[in-house]
Amino acid sequence: MKYFVVTYGCQMNVHESEKIAAILENMGYTLANDRNEADIIVFNTCAIREGAEDRVFGNVGNLKRLKKKNKELIIAVCGCMTQKEQTAQKLMQKFPFVDIVIGTFNIPKLRYYVEAVKKGRQFELLNEGELDETLPYKRSDKDNAWVNIMQGCNNFCTYCIVPYVRGREKSRKEENILKEIKEIVREGKHKKITLLGQNVNSYGKDLEKQVTFAKLLHDICAIEGNFTLSFMTSHPKDLTDDVIEAVKNEDKIEKFIHLPAQSGNNRILKLMNRRYTREKYLEIIDKIRQQIPNCRITSDFIVGFPSETEEEFNDTCTLVQKAKFDSIFAFMYSPREGTVASNMPDQISEKVKRERVNKLLAIEKRMQKEGKS
Ligand code: 5AD
Ligand code: SF4
Repeated sequence: MKYFVVTYGCQMNVHESEKIAAILENMGYTLANDRNEADIIVFNTCAIREGAEDRVFGNVGNLKRLKKKNKELIIAVCGCMTQKEQTAQKLMQKFPFVDIVIGTFNIPKLRYYVEAVKKGRQFELLNEGELDETLPYKRSDKDNAWVNIMQGCNNFCTYCIVPYVRGREKSRKEENILKEIKEIVREGKHKKITLLGQNVNSYGKDLEKQVTFAKLLHDICAIEGNFTLSFMTSHPKDLTDDVIEAVKNEDKIEKFIHLPAQSGNNRILKLMNRRYTREKYLEIIDKIRQQIPNCRITSDFIVGFPSETEEEFNDTCTLVQKAKFDSIFAFMYSPREGTVASNMPDQISEKVKRERVNKLLAIEKRMQKEGKS
């Protein structure tokens, strides 16, 4: 019996698919070369932008022909997109050949749903989930081992669906993280370890025994062995000096910080509920550059946020020029149902969003060519 997992979206999903793979291997499945030879196909989905959801609908739709060929084929859809009740219902209705539809919090129970499929289609969305500390991962990357340190987000940036589909911030206990990393180092297969969380800088704030993210970094670096450490994603409002110092002073930590700015205009940042200003952001960049001159810095931007004017977009362009990032990701704003921004007036046309994203990427490309400075 063979399985195949199709992953959309961020590193968090890539890592969660490693858990899905481990669950299926524990059930006796082995990895298929492609979806055509699989007995079970799992789609681990993303909801961050509409485009990601459209692709899932298209690709799940295409599985109909496989199901026709093999009536026993099990098709499961899980993750951020199906955590939204309406989307999950739509998927169930539109694709009667899909056997399992579950949300983000149900993944640790995947074995149960696969076994229950004999009795009929499985559909369940849990609203909150305890952090799973017990199930293993089938690490898929040769060099890098992902380690989840927290899940969820409390920030409620007004454009973002994450807090709705991943719940509130929950940090793993430090001792469990250290144990997992010691095991990775002992096995010696992965030379690189990347800590994952929607907002790693607020790690530990929700724990009974409070631990700062900087302390976690130092404690991990104290583990003996030959490995490098990195982390993502940092929120500019929470990136504290002690974290910058840890990156500077710990030899094991990669000199790299991904620090999404989203916009370079103060009115838009406020509407986004980012809780920092353009000036503050540039100050942090300066501080990093002073403290860690060889640090790579990357960022994310959203263009065409509701009511963004040409001048306001221009502030994003000048911020990119000033900050001299090593690279950026630029996204066209995508309204997500249920978020505050999706109901804001003056939504920007697709045409203007496309023009702005192209312009921003052209600036970035020109800077890369010119060697940034
Ligand atoms: N539309 C466009 N981009 C978005 N992002 C998050 N939500 C949206 C949205 N609704 C982007 C942000 C974030 C990255 C992972 O995705 O830039 O940093
Ligand atoms: Fe979304 Fe903002 Fe949380 Fe990042 S920090 S996951 S953009 S709500």
